[in-house]
Amino acid sequence: TTYQVGYFIGSLSSTSINRVLSKALISLAPPDLEFSEIPIGNLPLYSPDYDADYPPEAIALKEAIEGSDAVLFISPEYNRSIPGALKNAIDWASRPWGKNSFHHIPAGVIGASIGAIGTAVGQQSLRAVLGFCNARQMTSPEAYIHYSPAVFSPDGEVSDEATAAFLRGYMEEFRDHIARVLTVLPRP
Ligand code: FNR
Repeated sequence: TTYQVGYFIGSLSSTSINRVLSKALISLAPPDLEFSEIPIGNLPLYSPDYDADYPPEAIALKEAIEGSDAVLFISPEYNRSIPGALKNAIDWASRPWGKNSFHHIPAGVIGASIGAIGTAVGQQSLRAVLGFCNARQMTSPEAYIHYSPAVFSPDGEVSDEATAAFLRGYMEEFRDHIARVLTVLPRP
């Protein structure tokens, strides 16, 4: 079985270290995971006024999530919380009321920071939101990546073997988590 993983980069930065981390994760992941990015940078700011008539970007967002077996959030921490662009995308996908695209979906959370605590506080914020959205989160292992350009090349090569082994293990656990969730909650 292969699993389709839709992944979110929480940063809109052209030099995002979380985008670098996503490349590393994809290259270290087991071969039965297939990845496609779900873009968030093209969405207008959500308003309930759109509920009756979602714009094409937001329809595409919801279809991409609903067509995935799982979602993976690779995000920076902004001011000890979630970047606004990512929260906006989650708000879009959670609506209109009764049509929450995250219902029962297997989800993973990971992030990189140049700071010492590696997005730990921002991830707690994100987990609270995903909990309310009824996603099935992998809660262990946690992954708080302290980013160093000495370890990650810009195209996502990981030169430190301990870091590579940790990220490889994280993705293997994520695959197992997806398999377990889908056993009891098959995707529609
Ligand atoms: C940050 N940064 C940051 N880092 C952190 O560890 N905790 C934080 O709360 C914040 N807050 C914060 C707010 C804002 C508005 C910015 C722009 C940045 C620093 C952040 O970790 C750094 O910019 C990373 O490079 C962001 O990840 P990307 O965009 O490179 O993937």
